[in-house]
Amino acid sequence: MAQKKVIAVVGSTGAQGGGLARAILADRQGEFAVRALTRKPQSEAARSLAGRGAEIVPADLDQPETLRRAFDGAYGAYCVTNFWEHFSPERELAQAQAMARAARDAGLRHVIWSTLEDTRQWVPLSDLRMPTLMEKYKVPHFDAKGEANHFFSDLGLPVTFLLTSFYWENFIYAGMGPKADSAGGLMLSLPMGDQKLPGIAVEDIGRCAYGIFKRGQSLVGKTVGIAGEHLTGVEMAAAFTRALARPVRYHPISPEEYRSLGFPGAQDLGNMFQFKRDFPEVFCKPRSPSIARSLNPSLQSFDAWLAENKNRIPIG
Ligand SMILES: NC(=O)c1ccc[n+]([C@@H]2O[C@H](COP(=O)([O-])OP(=O)(O)OC[C@H]3O[C@@H](n4cnc5c(N)ncnc54)[C@H](OP(=O)(O)O)[C@@H]3O)[C@@H](O)[C@H]2O)c1
Repeated sequence: MAQKKVIAVVGSTGAQGGGLARAILADRQGEFAVRALTRKPQSEAARSLAGRGAEIVPADLDQPETLRRAFDGAYGAYCVTNFWEHFSPERELAQAQAMARAARDAGLRHVIWSTLEDTRQWVPLSDLRMPTLMEKYKVPHFDAKGEANHFFSDLGLPVTFLLTSFYWENFIYAGMGPKADSAGGLMLSLPMGDQKLPGIAVEDIGRCAYGIFKRGQSLVGKTVGIAGEHLTGVEMAAAFTRALARPVRYHPISPEEYRSLGFPGAQDLGNMFQFKRDFPEVFCKPRSPSIARSLNPSLQSFDAWLAENKNRIPIG
């Protein structure tokens, strides 16, 4: 068999990159091999990937020389940053720039940059409908990713920009699931008004990314937006009601209320939801469930995801 094309997967031990690594490794007859980048080659997640056939390579986004070595000889790379580890847009920008430079130096033929909108294009800092955060951002964890797009395009890299969606896993891990209300029922509180929220099962992000690498050069230079479904709060509450066999009602709190919840990142997320709520065309239109399904035929609906995951959702 011809030698497989190596995909260097940043974030391989995490949600997005892990999904991509598992998708490639599950396709044993496929044309790609996984090089899993991690700072912790001995971690359980890294060892599990090694057990499935991945090459494990140490790399740290904060040490650019390690990236250059880790990308060397690869065909492509999946590039993702984890804002929530440090809450620093500047660090995210530096990490993205380091990946773009390493991709150029290694002569990669296809790079996917997992990005989001720079919301300042629609909500300039002078716009007072939401507060400016960290002096120069509206939604720091979005804005830095969007701003970083130019590092990839300025270098003329063969890049596909991947616009991801709200992970439905936030209902499991981020405390966003239904909570008990004072009447003994369950309430789903999100600051989305009556607008639709594009969401996705996180494993499907990686599977879509695999679809992008398989499709190859036709997606170079393109932005691909993916979602499993676009659902309103009322529609998500109805799906929870069906899955949990308990009534769940949607309570649209205000972005102001969300920003004042006080947990780390509450202001950033409050602004994020406000952006999604107030710019539905900008946010929903590029995130296409049908494109996602064409890249990943096993794309899950919210009902299907809930059927698999309802017992993992902490119900407060
Ligand atoms: N939650 C959502 O709804 C949502 C939606 C869209 C986009 N996002 C974005 O998704 C990003 C996080 O992706 P994820 O959910 O896949 O992350 P995750 O599951 O939290 O895992 C983080 C991954 O990044 C790797 N990593 C972090 N810092 C690194 C560094 N300095 N050097 C090398 N590797 C590093 C970690 O690897 P090791 O620890 O093994 O080194 C790990 O594999 C965030 O920036 C967030 O804004 C989230």
